[in-house]
Amino acid sequence: MRRVQLSLAIATILLAVACAKPPEPGEPLPGLDAAQRDQFDRGKVIFNRVFEPETGLGPLFNAKACGECHEQPVAGGVGDEVEVHATAFLPNGVCDPLADLGGFVYQQDVTPALKAALGIDKEPVPAKATAQGRRSSPDVLGFGLLDAVPDSEILAYADPDDRNHDGISGRPNRFFDGRLGRFGRKALVPTLAEFNEGAFPVEIGVTVPAVPSEETVAGQPIPPGVDPLPEPELDAQSVALVNAFVRFLAPPSPPKLKGTSRRGPELFDKTGCAACHVPRLKTGDSDVKALAHREVAAYTDLLLHDMGPTLADICLGLATPSEFRTEPLMGLRFSEKFLHDGRAGTIEEAIRLHGGEAVASRDRFATLPPADREALLAFLKQL
Ligand code: HEC
Ligand code: HEC
Repeated sequence: MRRVQLSLAIATILLAVACAKPPEPGEPLPGLDAAQRDQFDRGKVIFNRVFEPETGLGPLFNAKACGECHEQPVAGGVGDEVEVHATAFLPNGVCDPLADLGGFVYQQDVTPALKAALGIDKEPVPAKATAQGRRSSPDVLGFGLLDAVPDSEILAYADPDDRNHDGISGRPNRFFDGRLGRFGRKALVPTLAEFNEGAFPVEIGVTVPAVPSEETVAGQPIPPGVDPLPEPELDAQSVALVNAFVRFLAPPSPPKLKGTSRRGPELFDKTGCAACHVPRLKTGDSDVKALAHREVAAYTDLLLHDMGPTLADICLGLATPSEFRTEPLMGLRFSEKFLHDGRAGTIEEAIRLHGGEAVASRDRFATLPPADREALLAFLKQL
């Protein structure tokens, strides 16, 4: 009896040690139950499923699988695909997402049947658009935690009138129905589940229960016979499994700070980066224990900031052309291209391109003693 107890105790200790090891990229959050693990595994298969016209692809699409764009170094990681968004910023300051003209995502590929019917290679951007924005494919590791951050936590960082006079205002974007937005480069989409489900029709041309009809081609209906499959092309259960996969992906492991990079966090704060890239957010209640009341080292406030005219492109929701959501630096170690359209080839270049509200911080970075700048960059490369 005693021996059984002892080996149980040892097994428990071994388990605790195993659990303490941070997950590798692409692994699920620690602490999921067996049913959640199972959903994660089955959702990953659908995330990586390659769609063809016979199984729902298109007629308009950007790629054939979630995992074609979110792929490096694992499913849920970054990709080299860059897509096109377009909207119209009206003279009265209102943003038209061009929903009745096939917007705001303009797909860059079409099925052979649509090409044969209309003679196009991609969806044309309508003349009514006032700007186009290019969007590189980000990683989504740890985004279930960002989804579980309560609105109140995000709103607590907002300072739209810059009352504390630090030159940094930060304001929330709102979805069309008024809910707080947080996903996408312009923070339009309120929940991870909505983003994941919406990505099927928008990116792959696969209709889902929430979006049960194909988009128009810049306002023109899909010609008859081009899309023979009945809608929706993917059922609610598969959509839910993909959502579980994305939601349960563990965040990147904490950086191992050695040598000079140990001074990174302090320099990050001193240089003013942390005013927007808030190092840690706290999650609230969640039906998933592994997501409830955790800290997520995302380095974002999930708010919009004016980044100046050089980076400006489209409006979206309340976001003006020059406003972008503070990009989470969580997962920076996986990226080779930086900023919303991947225009920066290095982290240093991305910082140099910060304008608007980030000018003071950018200039402080530029005037750091070289050793400090190196230390800060060494830290950033490990996030
Ligand atoms: C053609 C490439 C492509 C495909 C296919 C694709 N995505 Fe994305 N994904 C993107 C891009 C580009 C963005 C950034 C959009 C933006 O900034 O507004 C993005 C953003 C996201 C985000 C939000 C990340 C953030 O920073 O807030 C999630 C979640 C996501 N994708 C999930 C999915 C899922 C699930 C699928 C499959 C149904 C999918 N994506 C298919 C390119 C793709
Ligand atoms: C005023 C708010 C603000 C400040 C201050 C700020 N950033 Fe940013 N940062 C942003 C926003 C917004 C973006 C997204 C811009 C875009 O995609 O065009 C961004 C993007 C980045 C990126 C690119 C991330 C990626 O994955 O593409 C890096 C790296 C970065 N910031 C680092 C820093 C560092 C380091 C500092 C301090 C020297 C800093 N930022 C200061 C708001 C800020």
